[in-house]
Amino acid sequence: MPQQNTATTDAKPIPGPSETGLLKQAARLLREDTATMLEDLRQRYGPVVRLRTPTDGTEAYLLAEPAYVQHVLESNQGNYRKAAVYRDELGELFGRGLLTSEGDHWSRQHRTIRPMFRSDSVRSFADLVAEQTDAMLDRWANHAARDEPIDLLAEMERVTLLIIGKAMFSTDMETHAEDIAAALDVLRTEFQRQTNSVRPTIPEWLPTPHNRRVSVARDELNGIVYDLIEQRRGQAGEYDDLLSALMAARDEETGERMDDEQIRDEIMTFLLAGHETTAAALTWTWYLLARNPAVHEELHEQITTASGRRDAPFSFGGDDPTYAKRCVQEAMRIYPPVPVFVREARETDTIDGYEIPAGSEVLLSQYVIHRDPDLWDDPSRFRPERFAARTDEDRPRYSYFPFGGGRRICIGRQFALMEDQIVLSRAVGRYRLDLRSPRTEPGVDSAVTMVPDEPIEMRVTEW
Ligand code: HEM
Repeated sequence: MPQQNTATTDAKPIPGPSETGLLKQAARLLREDTATMLEDLRQRYGPVVRLRTPTDGTEAYLLAEPAYVQHVLESNQGNYRKAAVYRDELGELFGRGLLTSEGDHWSRQHRTIRPMFRSDSVRSFADLVAEQTDAMLDRWANHAARDEPIDLLAEMERVTLLIIGKAMFSTDMETHAEDIAAALDVLRTEFQRQTNSVRPTIPEWLPTPHNRRVSVARDELNGIVYDLIEQRRGQAGEYDDLLSALMAARDEETGERMDDEQIRDEIMTFLLAGHETTAAALTWTWYLLARNPAVHEELHEQITTASGRRDAPFSFGGDDPTYAKRCVQEAMRIYPPVPVFVREARETDTIDGYEIPAGSEVLLSQYVIHRDPDLWDDPSRFRPERFAARTDEDRPRYSYFPFGGGRRICIGRQFALMEDQIVLSRAVGRYRLDLRSPRTEPGVDSAVTMVPDEPIEMRVTEW
């Protein structure tokens, strides 16, 4: 029997799986995927579903209606803080960086860092993105010549790590790229394990081989970052990168600078939050292009003939979106890099008659809402024209929110869109990518960033 919650008021009852259903749900999660499971629950129970996290039994509510998401992220955002997993486990990785901090500390950091991500600052990184992309494309020439497929996600992760690394550390990145990539690889596994609050986790203090690997990786990365900060002292003004900007930034109200630990926290945040997500967006865009040859050809046509060059134009917020941007936006609709995120209610709240008890968690899922057939016509179809400028305003707010919303909206969204447009345009201008095994359809793994659950191999051909 499905269960209803037992709110004391005359609140609307909230359906959800029974206790046995919850156990089955936990068992399913060990085999399957969070995002697809949430989509099933929405289809079965409607736009508000009561759940429980199997790890600690916290009450959780899936809110799968744009207006409810807007309520949590904007109208009543003061009542919702980041869920415990951000404060505790992720806090270990990111310290008090922008993604994990709250309150006055977050406000001060946000105020200080925001100028580094304004559109003019972001534009200044465009050449760097193009350079790193071209280096990757030159490497692909060997793959094309030998008909040797590439591992799509691995390639996208590599290029996006080099891009964010270079944007942060300029030339120093070349010296440390391999070490940083290896340490991040270990930490990423940790990050995925810990944010997935519905899967049981191994306590961090246990001296398991996994925990030891994580602590070695974290120490190694900390060592590199602290050394870079140290070397930069006394070289102020010589570099034009995010590390220098972080070191020079002063709080506009207090005039205070960040200490080394705070700089480390922000760097770790940008490194992890800033490359996995963009790599996922690019991977799914390529995958969908390969599945939709007409769109692939249209994009190639637009890049090579419309602009008559391969210098990868990109568009920002108010501009008419380039076709490459529309492709990326549409790919992020079908496969949002962040498929679900979680907030915790400080006080009991009522949303459209549903009572959300104090201390419970709310799950906001891009994956579920972006695929809702009541909001999107033929949602599984890849149609970049949905994001043509004139149709942009026709959608209800929060029917599309790949970057979150409200005051905690992604600070790197302009950077990400600029980067994805440039990488995609330069690559599509030069190569065509085809699935090596078109008959197999990858599943999704959405522990944190939504990625394919197995490698996607692509054949690379010059146009
Ligand atoms: C396609 C690429 C990206 C996607 C889909 C994405 C998505 C998101 C989402 C959904 C959030 C909100 C999380 C929440 O509210 O709990 C977020 C926050 C954040 N993102 Fe991104 N992100 C992307 C790229 C980037 C890049 C390139 C950077 C930095 C270089 C970045 C840095 C951050 C930071 C610092 C926050 C925390 C902001 C705050 O709480 O004030 N992201 N991102």
